[in-house]
Amino acid sequence: MRIDVVSIFPAFFEALEVSLLGRARGAGILDIRVHDLRDSTHDRHRTVDDTPYGGGAGMVMKPEPWAEALQTIATDAEAPPGGGQHPIFIFPSPAGEVFTQATAGELAEAPHLVFGCGRYEGIDERVFDYAAELGSVRLISLGDYVLNGGEVAAMAMIEAIGRLVPGVVGNPASLVEESHEDGLLEYPSYTKPAAWRGRDVPPVLLSGNHGAIAAWRREQQIERTRARRPDLLGE
Ligand code: ADE
Repeated sequence: MRIDVVSIFPAFFEALEVSLLGRARGAGILDIRVHDLRDSTHDRHRTVDDTPYGGGAGMVMKPEPWAEALQTIATDAEAPPGGGQHPIFIFPSPAGEVFTQATAGELAEAPHLVFGCGRYEGIDERVFDYAAELGSVRLISLGDYVLNGGEVAAMAMIEAIGRLVPGVVGNPASLVEESHEDGLLEYPSYTKPAAWRGRDVPPVLLSGNHGAIAAWRREQQIERTRARRPDLLGE
C-alpha cells in the first residue's frame, strides 16, 4: 500500500519510522511518503494561509499549494495503480464522518491513500472539489473533539489502517480477537504470575477448559461493553 501525507509539520510523522509500521516500511509492505506543503509554495515566505473571506477568526489554508501538492502526488508515476490515478484523499477534520474500525478495514484495501493535514481554521473548500477530480475524497473525524490540526488524527488513522494491511502484524489471529472487530470491547487479559499483590487471575483461565474460557470471555466482552459503551449494543 502507498500512503502519502501532506502537512506543514512533516516532523510529526517521524514516529512512523519505529515499531510495527516502521518495520513494514522497511520490508516494503507500506510505502509511506511525507511531503511538506510549503515545498509547493513559490513566494519568499512560503505562505500557506490567508484571511477568510466573509471575515471571522483565524486563517484559512490557501488552495494553490494544496492543488500543486495533491496533483503531483496523484500523477506520480510510481504510485499505484496504473500510474497513480485515483487515490483516496483523506482530509482529517472534526467536521467529517467518524472514523471506526470498519472505516479502517475498508481503507486498508485501497492501494493508495493520500492524507491532507489541515491547520488553522481549515482548508479552502475548493480544494476538496479539486481533489475529487483527481480521485475520491473523504473528510474523516477521529471523534467529537477538536485537535490543533490533522496531523495527530492522520497518524492515528495510518496506524489503524496500516496494521490491517496483510503482513504488517506478524500474527493475523491477534487482529480478529480485539476490541471493535465484532462490535464488542475486548475481554480482559492476564499473564503470569497467577497470584500478584493479593490479586488472582480468574480461575477459569487456569482451568484448561477451552469451552468455559471462550464462554467467560464472551460474557466479559458483553458486560464491559454494556458498562462502558452501551451505544455499541444499541442500548
Ligand atoms: N482535526 C482537528 N480535529 C480533528 C478531529 N477530531 N478529527 C480529525 N481531524 C481533526
